[in-house]
Amino acid sequence: MRRDPGRRRGRPSSLLAARWEGPGWGDRDTLPTLPRMRGTFRRPAAAPSARSRRPEQGATVCVHGLGYIGLPTAALLADAGRQVAGCDIQPAVVALVNAGRAPFAERDLDALLARAASSGHLRAATTPSPADFHVIAVPTPLRERQRPDLSAVQAAADALAPLLRPGDTVVLESTVPVGATEALAARIATARPDLALPRRGAPAPPGCVHVAHCPERVLPGRLLEELRANDRVIGGVTPACAARAAELYAGVVQGALVLTEARMAELVKLSENAFRDVNIAFANELALLCEGFGLDPFQAIALANRHPRVRILQPGAGVGGHCIAVDPWFLVDGAPEQARLVRTAREVNDATPRRIAAKLRAAAAGFARPRITLLGLAYKPDAEDLRESPALSIALELATEGYAVTACDPFLRAAPVALAADVVEAIRTADVVGILVAHTPFRALDRALFRGKAVVDAVGLLAG
Ligand SMILES: NC(=O)c1ccc[n+]([C@@H]2O[C@H](COP(=O)([O-])OP(=O)(O)OC[C@H]3O[C@@H](n4cnc5c(N)ncnc54)[C@H](O)[C@@H]3O)[C@@H](O)[C@H]2O)c1
Repeated sequence: MRRDPGRRRGRPSSLLAARWEGPGWGDRDTLPTLPRMRGTFRRPAAAPSARSRRPEQGATVCVHGLGYIGLPTAALLADAGRQVAGCDIQPAVVALVNAGRAPFAERDLDALLARAASSGHLRAATTPSPADFHVIAVPTPLRERQRPDLSAVQAAADALAPLLRPGDTVVLESTVPVGATEALAARIATARPDLALPRRGAPAPPGCVHVAHCPERVLPGRLLEELRANDRVIGGVTPACAARAAELYAGVVQGALVLTEARMAELVKLSENAFRDVNIAFANELALLCEGFGLDPFQAIALANRHPRVRILQPGAGVGGHCIAVDPWFLVDGAPEQARLVRTAREVNDATPRRIAAKLRAAAAGFARPRITLLGLAYKPDAEDLRESPALSIALELATEGYAVTACDPFLRAAPVALAADVVEAIRTADVVGILVAHTPFRALDRALFRGKAVVDAVGLLAG
């Protein structure tokens, strides 16, 4: 019979009606195997509403990093009644937030920020404040040779360590390699030898600082909606750490809060994005195969997806953004021998923009002075985000080679390449049209516009 650590140590939070299920965790000399270390945070049968679930109403929060993840999180926590200090190293971001505005476009965020700023529940600064909960949501990009760059997480840890008090909680929301949350706890322990920090497999001493990983799986464009609705996996360095971190989210998250260990939460987040990357790589490879067979890849995938258990994603101009194009490398870096499929998928997707650029060049070869119009520059449909955008890299590559390139993107006001204000006119005057992003407004374009043009449709906008 396995022991229930929640019972043995007391339930994580009676107000949350949390319950540990499964085996003992973190209390053995030899570590149990991963599947046996699962813990689950279960809502009571009739879950109280978000408003009534405010166990830590008086608790203070400091959010480190006010970007796509940190800012909506800070705003939601402030709106739920917490006293939130936002911290960002960019003074311009801090000034905007204090004025009740977001530095990026996101549905309903400005209204929420304005409310939080005027109520006084959210204040931003370039330095962190002492708080019961520290939430780290800073960038975790790649450095040279596809290695994880955790310098921003380390800088945030170094900034908050002097402020920590016994019992405080540090939640790492940034996407990180497996083992990084434990490394964060160890870094804080080195900076603050006077405090007790948790260690995997060791019982938490009294007054221990809690350290947990709670990764994000939100979609920009629907950030607030998904922050509230999505299930969250919360991985603690110890069970008590996970339970404590869950209390932070209970007031704002309506999805399930599922507790596990930190390494599992790290792996789960990375595997979610690697799964999508592999599926997209498969679609991109199918597009290549179809090209050879003279078949339409979009029709092929639509027909294959009629199988009840097949769900192939769509091919495109490549994979961009700061998540799917980055996170799988964290797995490759952590286990290069084992992550062969993950690495290959990254390579297939990274090669796709070059393949599409080559198709555009080939289409342009038939014209003396080809005018190329590209539809879409953002890294994905209906977003203004240019980070790691394959479409942008194609546009820049062709422009650098001397092609007359004009881009159309209804979601962008400025871009590093010439932007056309009128998409219809830009198509009319083009010799070659590259369709790189399936923005919804493009779907309404009259197909007759494309007649007589050399069209490279990377996203299947005109398919079917
Ligand atoms: N954007 C997404 O859709 C998304 C989704 C899931 C996970 N994530 C992950 O969340 C993390 C944050 O991503 P993001 O998209 O919010 O990044 P972002 O670039 O939009 O914002 C990060 C913010 O952190 C600030 N910052 C950098 N170093 C700092 C420091 N030491 N202290 C305080 N502030 C600092 C930056 O100035 C910036 O404003 C990353 O690990 C990312 O992979 C992002």
